[in-house]
Amino acid sequence: MPISGTGNFPRVLSGSRCSMSAVVWSLVGFLLVLHMYSRFSNINAVNGDIQLRMSNHPLVHELEQVEKENIQIPHRKGKRSPRAAKRRPKRTTTLIDEFLDENSQLRHVFFPDMKTAVNPIKDSGNDSYHYHPGRIWLDTEGNPIQAHGGGMLYDERSNTYYWYGEYKDGPTYHAHKKGAARVDIIGVGCYSSKDLWTWKNEGIVLAAEETNETHDLHKSNVLERPKVIYNENTGKYVMWMHIDDANYTKAAVGIAISDYPTGPFDYLRSQRPHGYDSRDMTIFKDDDGVAYLIYSSEDNSELHIGPLTEDYLDVKPEMQRILVGQHREAPALFKYQGTYYMITSGCTGWAPNEALAHAAESIMGPWETMGNPCIGGNKMFRLATFFAQSTFVIPLPGIPGSYIFMADRWNPADLRDSRYVWLPLIVGGPADRPFEFNFGFPLWPRVSIYWHRKWRLPLSWRASK
Ligand code: DGJ
Repeated sequence: MPISGTGNFPRVLSGSRCSMSAVVWSLVGFLLVLHMYSRFSNINAVNGDIQLRMSNHPLVHELEQVEKENIQIPHRKGKRSPRAAKRRPKRTTTLIDEFLDENSQLRHVFFPDMKTAVNPIKDSGNDSYHYHPGRIWLDTEGNPIQAHGGGMLYDERSNTYYWYGEYKDGPTYHAHKKGAARVDIIGVGCYSSKDLWTWKNEGIVLAAEETNETHDLHKSNVLERPKVIYNENTGKYVMWMHIDDANYTKAAVGIAISDYPTGPFDYLRSQRPHGYDSRDMTIFKDDDGVAYLIYSSEDNSELHIGPLTEDYLDVKPEMQRILVGQHREAPALFKYQGTYYMITSGCTGWAPNEALAHAAESIMGPWETMGNPCIGGNKMFRLATFFAQSTFVIPLPGIPGSYIFMADRWNPADLRDSRYVWLPLIVGGPADRPFEFNFGFPLWPRVSIYWHRKWRLPLSWRASK
């Protein structure tokens, strides 16, 4: 009598082998289809002129229009001497050269004059609520807004937006022959708004120290990129900022605190977080109330990230190195559907360079680099982040996946005249660069920053405020 158990065994095994191979082949087929899809979505992105599938949300259609720029570079006047031509072979002038040249005939394109200033008190009709990246932007008293390297706090207690930034309304000079262009510390400016367009000057909420030369805030030092968050446990508004000396060798963060969003803020101290040098930085408050400090370190070669203590007045010992060796600065973080995103710039002083978008499932990393998020303008516009540098990303609750990208168009010749470049940032559509480890499957949707000469937030978004 056959032993049924043993007799059946090979049959069962061959059956399972059969279903196993079916599973394997369907998986391979599925992966192939996914791969083809991801390849196809990449084809649209290869030439830099990225064609995107529009988001389905009707509110953002207008923001996602791709606007081109066709700027002709003027011929340089004056002949080069034959000797100069021999020494330095003629090189085509780029838009970046024009941007950095104070005497360029294109100066008005990058730094339009007062005649075109955005004045929310006077601009009504067609221009009301419109952002004009690069134009002078006036506050409710008619003065140019001074809030560079800024950040935004939405204060739920007063349903008001507060914009904090470097108040740089002083002369630009070089502390040393080779030193970076600088303005003495005046303080942190604060502006309030209900609609993100009309800004009331709330004054200098953290002022420079005039006399004590050993003080971090002595006017001869550097105060950059102030950011404010609210601590629900202590009821305090907490400001973190980059504190440095004129040579950028102190490389520290400063912390200040206030009972009110409009200050005055009391300066507590500076520190080198986790014992490391810290230059460009930002803070990010997560949905669970845990806040993080992110800073460029190891001579700007990498970023460090770590949680703040419960009162937001210090860092906890925990720290992760991210984007190691990538030399990024100007970090601006945001979160969408549980994924963390960050925009950074390269490190070229006050000169513009290419932005990159990064993403992570956990804020402590690993962080992956997704690519250049800029869309529209022209190639140079995209390679120079529209001649600006990231500073903050403002969430737009009610329009899923939509944000305002806040950036600074620095004017190194006259830093007080640096401009604001605010543009719509949308998360959605296929990523245009697969990562090495994911076999060509985009893990995250694309982050896109759309160039517009003029744009505004959807009417219904403003109406809900
Ligand atoms: C680039 C940084 O992003 C700015 O905040 C400022 O520190 C400049 N460098 C100074 O050159």
